[in-house]
Amino acid sequence: MNAKDLHRPAIRIFRSAELASEAVANVIAERIRSVPATTLGLATGATPRLVYKTLIERGRASWRGVRCFNLDEYVGLTPDHPASFACYMRDLLFNHVDVEPGRTHIPDGMAVDIDKAAKAYEQLISDSGGIDLQLLGIGRNGHIGFNEPGSAHDSRTREVRLTQSTIDANRRDFPEGQEPPATALTMGIGTILGSREIVLLATGAAKAEAVAAALQGPVNPDCPASALRRHAAVTVFCDQAAAARLDIEQLKGTGSVHAAA
Ligand code: GLP
Repeated sequence: MNAKDLHRPAIRIFRSAELASEAVANVIAERIRSVPATTLGLATGATPRLVYKTLIERGRASWRGVRCFNLDEYVGLTPDHPASFACYMRDLLFNHVDVEPGRTHIPDGMAVDIDKAAKAYEQLISDSGGIDLQLLGIGRNGHIGFNEPGSAHDSRTREVRLTQSTIDANRRDFPEGQEPPATALTMGIGTILGSREIVLLATGAAKAEAVAAALQGPVNPDCPASALRRHAAVTVFCDQAAAARLDIEQLKGTGSVHAAA
């Protein structure tokens, strides 16, 4: 894909992480209200926590018709392990809304045949009609889901080896002295780009370099999030800290940035 085929994500910059998270929650809540049978792609990590909290507190829209696919799961963690993304999603969202358990899907990190489980997950997304709205966070190294630097932009759901920086960043979620798993099952970048609409939420100074690389750096596997410029319907919600390394004047010239509330 050459430069003229790339897209410019809309960028909305907020004074705080709270305001950015609230704006993302508004997008999701409005989507569920207007399209009750919508299919959401969901993320984990620290960043989306306030989005889910806000959605629960709003409580207006019913999740009964919503289908959810999570981006990733560690390989080797049982769904009841406190650091598993299955546990994260139950505790931070699914146990607090009326989503049907049979409509929540998380890659099976305990599968005996991981490759078979990866293909089955990819097929289930396709058989369900694809993802309408995918929520993403971003790793400090520009990863999306668990697609680490070097991941092909057309990659599909598969087992990936986590980088040391990702393991170090995610160790906080594990009991003292317990190492995160070395691999994970993740939607591929190509799988993510198959969503009809993508919302990326990035907050905090630690993400500033990744956000700048994703939005204004080269589009190549070195920065997985740069693949988002291959998609025509991406909106980036960030706070000023995460936007700090962006060349705002250059972006204003393209009409893609809105310094919001
Ligand atoms: C993990 C998750 C990603 C997430 C990233 C950033 O690796 N697999 O989906 O976006 O970490 O997490 P945080 O929001 O905690 O910085």
